[in-house]
Amino acid sequence: MSGGQEKLKILIRRAAIQKRVHEVAVQITKDFKGQRIHLIGVLKGACIFLSDLVREISLETSIDFMAVSSYGKGKQSSGQVRLLKDLDSSIQGLNVILVEDILDTGLTLSYLLRVLQQRKPKVLRVAALLDKPSRRLKEVQGDYVGFTIPNEFVVGYGLDYGERFRNLKDVCVLSLPPE
Ligand code: IMP
Ligand code: MG
Repeated sequence: MSGGQEKLKILIRRAAIQKRVHEVAVQITKDFKGQRIHLIGVLKGACIFLSDLVREISLETSIDFMAVSSYGKGKQSSGQVRLLKDLDSSIQGLNVILVEDILDTGLTLSYLLRVLQQRKPKVLRVAALLDKPSRRLKEVQGDYVGFTIPNEFVVGYGLDYGERFRNLKDVCVLSLPPE
């Protein structure tokens, strides 16, 4: 339920995000110089990160999206990953960069990497805006990580809590009143 006692505290400001997204894009542009890349956004959390990132990349780029559900409506992971929307087109032989909002337990990413690897991309890399390595249950890591953050629940810049707060310009820590 929404209540008056939820608190938002800015963790990463809009300007810092913009600067870092640009840096990540420059790195990707260098790494794939002269080649074409295919970005796959994981809906819905990564949509804002992907939108900003793609416009800073100076390569021939195409995009596609997948949707998965790993969390329920709140903060707890269901532990199970379900594929809700698959890709529109084949990724065989492509330089694929999977774009995630946040790497947390790693369950979602390891599932997605398994599914995508089976489809024989030429290269498969991972870009994530945020990384919470202290929560890992599966050993996975991002190739391009925006910010490593402590074990806090964050919202904004695409990340949600029960579908709320995705539109915040900054990444904020959300604290809830005790139940
Ligand atoms: P993982 O499978 O535990 O790595 O979780 C990945 C997904 O959980 C992310 O793509 C987010 O949608 C969600 N998630 C994990 N941590 C947070 C958080 O701090 N805020 C909002 N969503 C989160
Ligand atoms: Mg989410």
